[in-house]
Formats: sequence, C-alpha cells, structure tokens
Amino acid sequence: MRITFRLILSLVVGVTLVALVFSYFQVRQEERRLREETERRAAVLAESLQESVEPLLDSKSSGNLQRIVERFGNRKRLSGVAVYDANGRSLAVTSGLPPSFTRSPAAAFEAVRTDQGYGQFQTINEKLIHIYALPLHREGILAGVLVILHDASFISMKRLRTGETSAEVSLPKADLFKPLAQEVVHLAKSLSAARAAAQEEARLREAAESLWTSERLREHVRGKLQGRPLFVVSNREPYMHVRKGNEIAVMEPASGLVTALEPILRACGGTWVAHGGGDADRETADECDKLRVPPDDPHFTLKRVWLTREEEEGYYYGFSNEGLWPLCHIAHTRPTFRAEDWSDYQAVNLKFAESILEELEGTEEPCVLIQDYHFALLPQLIKQRRPDARVAIFWHIPWPNPEAFGICPWQKELLDALLGADLIGFHIQFHCNNFLETVDRALESRIDWEGFAVNRHGHTTWVKPFPISIALPNDASTPSVESSAEQVRVRLFKELGVKASYLGVGVDRIDYTKGILERLRGIERFLEKYPVYRQQLTFVELGAPSRTHIKQYHDLVAQVEAEADRINSRFQTKEWKPIIFRKGHHTHEEIQPYYRAADFGLVTSLHDGMNLVAKEYVAARDDEQGVLILSCFTGASRELQDALIVNPYDIEQIAEAMRCALEMNPEERASRMQRMRRTVREANVYCWAANLITELSQVQLEKAEAAKPR
Ligand code: G6P
Repeated sequence: MRITFRLILSLVVGVTLVALVFSYFQVRQEERRLREETERRAAVLAESLQESVEPLLDSKSSGNLQRIVERFGNRKRLSGVAVYDANGRSLAVTSGLPPSFTRSPAAAFEAVRTDQGYGQFQTINEKLIHIYALPLHREGILAGVLVILHDASFISMKRLRTGETSAEVSLPKADLFKPLAQEVVHLAKSLSAARAAAQEEARLREAAESLWTSERLREHVRGKLQGRPLFVVSNREPYMHVRKGNEIAVMEPASGLVTALEPILRACGGTWVAHGGGDADRETADECDKLRVPPDDPHFTLKRVWLTREEEEGYYYGFSNEGLWPLCHIAHTRPTFRAEDWSDYQAVNLKFAESILEELEGTEEPCVLIQDYHFALLPQLIKQRRPDARVAIFWHIPWPNPEAFGICPWQKELLDALLGADLIGFHIQFHCNNFLETVDRALESRIDWEGFAVNRHGHTTWVKPFPISIALPNDASTPSVESSAEQVRVRLFKELGVKASYLGVGVDRIDYTKGILERLRGIERFLEKYPVYRQQLTFVELGAPSRTHIKQYHDLVAQVEAEADRINSRFQTKEWKPIIFRKGHHTHEEIQPYYRAADFGLVTSLHDGMNLVAKEYVAARDDEQGVLILSCFTGASRELQDALIVNPYDIEQIAEAMRCALEMNPEERASRMQRMRRTVREANVYCWAANLITELSQVQLEKAEAAKPR
C-alpha cells in the first residue's frame, strides 16, 4: 500500500515537473517568436512609411506630416507614430501618445547614432510597448527619425494565459525518486515527444487552415459572389495560339499579370476578356470569339477581342506603352503622348467595354476585375451602363508622384474615369498615397485620408494596397524534384557548353525598367574586383523580347547583346564565359531548372510595381538554398526582406551582393530562404484574390446609382 502510494506520488510529481519545465520553455519560445514577429512588422511598416515621410521633412509640410501620422497611428495594434528632426524635436506625433513623446525616445537616439533602424521593448503606463526608430534622410543627409510604437501587451498576456510562473519549483526529496528515477525519465521523454508531436500537428493544421489554397479561394469566392460568375479583363491573354510552321501551338505569354491571374481563374472559373493577339487566335475561338482554357484542362472561358493593326498601334504600343508605361515607371525614359494614340486608347477601351457589357447581361450585381493601365477608362464606361456592377481596377505598375503624373495631357480624363471604379488596387501603400495626392491636385473631390477613399460626384472609390503574388503550392518539406541543385547545375553547364562552378540567373522581359544593362555591369565589376571567381561564375540571362515594335525596346535587345559580348570578350576563356544571354520566350518548364540550380537570382529593376520573378525564384527553392538579390525599387522588396537588397544604380553594390551571396554560410542562406518562403506561401495569390474580392463584395452600391435604368 505504502509502496503503491509512493509510486503514484512520485509519478504525479515527476510528470508535473516535466510538464512545468516543458511549458516554461515552450512559452519562452512562443514569446520569442511573437517578439521577433512584432520587430519584423515594425521594420516593414516603418520602411513603407519612410517614403511618404521623408519628402515632408521640411517645416512647411508639418500639416501633411501630422495628417500622415494620425492616419497611420490608428491602425490595429499600433499605439502611435511620431516624427522627430535630427535634434530630437518633434515634428508630428499621433494625438493620444503620452506627453513624454514630445521629445524623442531613447530608441530614436540609438537609431540616429548608428544611422540604422533600432527597436526595443519598453513598459509605458504598465503596458509593454515595442518602439521602433528609423533614421530619415534628405538628399543623403540624416534629417530626422521616424518612430513607430506597437502595443505588445498581447505578448505578456499570452504568457499569463499559458500559465507561466516565475516561482521556483523545488524538487521533492531525492530518495523518493530513487526507485522510479528511470521510469520517470522515460515517461517524461515520451510525454514530451507526444506533446511535441501533437503541437507540430496542431501547428500544421492551423497553418494549413490559415493558408489560402485554390480550393479555399473557390469556396470563398462562391460565398462572396453568391454563386455569380467572376469577370476579368486584361489586355494580355493567358493563352495565345500561334503558328509554328504548319502547326498551331499554345503559348503562355511572359507577363506577371498572367502568372498571377491564371491560377485565380483556374480556381474560380468565370470569363476572362482579353485581346486576341496570336496569329492563330481567330481559328481557335468559336463564333462568339470564345474558347475554354487551359486548352488541355479547361476551367474557365477566354473571350478574345480583336483589334485592327491601327488600333493596336495607337492604343497598345502608343498610348499604353510609350505614354503610360514610362510615365508611371520612373526609369528615365521620356513618355510620349500623341493625340492620335489617345483617340485609339479611348476607342479600344470602348470596344472592350461593349464586349464585357455583353457578357454581363443576365447577371445581377456582377463583379468585374479590370487589370492594368491599358484600361483606365473602363471603370467609368462600365459603371455608366451597369451601375449595379461592382467594379475594381488593379493597377499592376507603380503610380508616380503628382508632378510626374501631371505630364500627361489627359490626366484629368484618366483620373475621372478611374474613379468610376468602386475599388482601385495598387501593390503597395506608397502607390495608393501617390494616387490620392494626384487626385487631390488634379480634380475637385473629397478625399478621406483615414479610410483611403475618394468621393467625387457622390460616388465613392476605395483605394487600397493588395500586394500581388504567385500560387506557391502548400508544399510539405519534401523537395518536389529528385535531382539536387548541384546535379541540375552540372547538367545546365553541360548544355550551355561552359565549365563553371557557380550559376547566377536573371529572368525578364527585355524592358528598360528591368535594369538588365546595370546587372551586366555589376557582373563585370564583380569579376574585376574578385578575379578568383573568373572561370567559376556564369550568369545566365533568360530574356524574352517584348514590345519590340517600339524603338527603345528594339534597341535594348541589341544593347544587351552588345554589352554581354563586350564583357565576355574581356574575360572569357576557351571553356568558360561569364555571361550567357538566352534571347527568346521560355516556358515555365524551361525556366524552373535555372531557378532550382542558381546560386543566386538577380532582380535589378529600376522601378517595378511588384516583380513576380523574385517570388518565383523563392518558390522554386524547396531545397531552401539559393540567395535572392533584389532591387530596392521593386514592390517585392517590401515583403522579401531576407533578400540582399540593392540599389541597381550602384554597380558596386550589385558586385558586393554577388560576393556576399556566393560566400554566405549555408545556415544563413537556409534561414533567409525559409523566411522568404514562409512569406510567399502565406501571402500567396489566392490570398491576394480573396482580399480583393472580399473588399469588392463589401462595397455598398450607391442606391440612386444602382436604381438607374440599364
Ligand atoms: C507588365 C504589365 C502587364 C503586362 C506585362 C507584359 O507586367 O503590368 O500588364 O501584361 O508587363 O507586357 P505585355 O505588353 O507583353 O503584355
């Protein structure tokens, strides 16, 4: 009896002890994770705000500055935002912050001292607060500091909830344990293993449930649209039929827009209206100009719109790509605006409007997702005829500052027509801000800076960021291909006819915004500075010629070729070349091995709305290897903070980043890649579509408008 009692008591004490110790470590780990996440969020938010705040640092802009800090300061979990000058005097502080914040906090001094972001946790009014300070610059000179305060009390609440206690646990007398010591240790081990397994399972279950997949999106959209079909319109079609000799082949065009949208339509079904640009497109569509796609596994309807050569010339090459494209990308190529192109742009927008309106017939309160700068006039054209439609336009390219946009002779007409939409989406907050400021300067309207909306002639348009992404599969940790990166690299070098050890890759449409020449010069500088990498590193550029009808684009292909030849002739040997330029259209299957095998992926855009190549490279690295070198002028650099971020105008920086990528230790490489993969997996394109469609479905249609006759 006594022995049984002692046995039970020992077991209870042993198990309790193990559970306490285990819980303690688990809570500590959870707390560390939450702290790291808060720090990461603060840094991302500060950097996205930095661009809006820096230009306002002179005292004349204090009203605008205050408006910005108020607007951001009332976000979820944010306790406030403050901006100080370089001497610590406040320029703008969210109302509601304690009076002590009229002087800059200690974190701000530290950030100024080291000239880099600095964060710390601090208890203020009995609340745990995370304070993050980021130095601000004007023309390269330190001019102030931005401070972001996050309410971090949920971290300590969590600790309490999970039962953490600081009380010391004293061990019962040792002799009580002796007879059962081994059993208890064994029991403890199995208990902890079982608990770890259960937790891992729960974590995976939770992650799987919170991840957006094609199935989840399909169900979500069905619910939001109450079974109504989805309508999408873009200039570029997802599948083109082209002649190859006597055969007709299907081609998937090189376009970030297509990469992102195709999985959405595949998941949700619906109708995608686009320009039929392939030379065999007419004969592969039916008498209503439609076909089911993807051709080998149909899931949605593609409706093709035909354009005459003249229309394509003026609307696509002219106004869209010689006018709006350089206007919105600050990449030092002058926009050209011609009145004839503007007429074609108007006429083609009208043509597309007719085509879509035909499709909308019979659907009440349809949802229409318009894509990109080719169709700025469509929102108004659709809404005028179908006031009951919910219309969103997503702008896939940057939106510049009001001065830059003001160059366009038809800026008012464009803005007015865009504001026909219920929702306008950009990749990042910065572009939303630029858009609202442009509207503010150019049109009579009421802007709600807190809710991010414009009211014009009684109609409200919401303006929000939706960072686009790709459909990274929810992979388990097992790599999807059998060959290792090393094996693929060896095979590729053999096919390319070079002897080398390291591989770098770039994948682009050949476009002056992509910084391809800058990238090649970075490679040249790298080989100059680090000769040990000669005969070791080969960089492959997979470049798809694009819009070559336009002189700048046509000339750029030749310039890239000439630059690659020049650099090769400086360094190449009989068996090795530093640069291989593969000009042409490459399929996903052809690109994948390069992503999989490259020691680094190089994205050096001079300006880019998002850049999905960066995300595709990350997605391909299920071996958690490879380093992404990414331009700071891409939208993607806001999310992929574990890339090596470079200024593509700084050739030295590109060269240094390449050295850093090749010499990075494998653990760091893996942990950077893991974090980037987590970001891309969590914020995938299904999540993007779900957010956009949810916002659009929640739009309140203005009663008077919706009641207008159709
Ligand atoms: C960018 C644009 C897309 C376009 C793509 C390819 O990503 O935002 O709208 O489809 O470039 O350009 P292209 O002119 O060939 O369609």
